Amino acid sequence: MGASEASKVYGVSQGRLSEVFEDFLATTKELIRRHRLTHREYRAAVDFLCAVAEHGELKLLLDVFLEATVDAVDSQGRPGTASSVEGPYYVEGAPLMRSPCTLPHRADEPGARLLFYGTVRDSRGEALAGAMLDVWQADASGAYSHFDIPAEVAPYNLRARVIADERGAFEIRTWMSAPYHIPKDGPTGALLTALGRHPYRPAHLHVKLSHERCLPLTTQLFFEGDPYLDSDVVGAVKAPLVVRLERRDAPDEIARLGCDGPFYALRYDFVLARRAESQADTACAKAGVA
Ligand code: DHB
Ligand code: FE
Repeated sequence: MGASEASKVYGVSQGRLSEVFEDFLATTKELIRRHRLTHREYRAAVDFLCAVAEHGELKLLLDVFLEATVDAVDSQGRPGTASSVEGPYYVEGAPLMRSPCTLPHRADEPGARLLFYGTVRDSRGEALAGAMLDVWQADASGAYSHFDIPAEVAPYNLRARVIADERGAFEIRTWMSAPYHIPKDGPTGALLTALGRHPYRPAHLHVKLSHERCLPLTTQLFFEGDPYLDSDVVGAVKAPLVVRLERRDAPDEIARLGCDGPFYALRYDFVLARRAESQADTACAKAGVA
């Protein structure tokens, strides 16, 4: 192990860790003073965090309240499709599939069928042949496989790593996901209730895109008309990620997709930031160059 690796903690250098953690402590101490926290309140906060950990909700709690801000800072100045949060329900190692493909599903997968298709290009407009779209989503009742649906019941349900074709085009056949609420019964839900906030997220599809020439992109797509677009509990909606669904009812298309009847279609053309360009952009941004 090299000296620089040895001095890393969870992949973060000790210098950076000290810089940020000391400020975290100073900021938190200042908050305690400003609000004149009582010892009872301090204990309540500690008990709350213990309960969050016991319910396995640490990742959920932090992602709900803080990940959108990390995303905003981390993606600033990056060209291409807008990013959004990963959230707590990503699972590595989903099945590899070549486009066109149907996501892994149950025999009686509920909900309306959805055709998700489009292209992947870089920020100069060049097609990204073989780009990978690591897709995951909740089912029509808002349940995520490996979390709400046990992995043994339906492994990688509605999850796959899809390889785009040589023109960077992809076609993924799946099912609509529903507006969805984060768990209401655990401590995170109790905190939201106490704050007078609802626990809902608009329906969404998650995608992580990657290609060797480009920076990876984690994002989500949302649907026009969803009642929770303006009040996502996670605050992860960005206008360019809200898409219009098209209802398709042409018999030949219905037959081609193997659907029982009309289905929804969603086209999205993704743009990934080229590695070299965006490093130069970031360097310019840091140096204050327009
Ligand atoms: C969060 C993100 C999601 O995509 C989701 O389905 C639930 C929660 C989150 O960021 O907390
Ligand atoms: Fe989600």
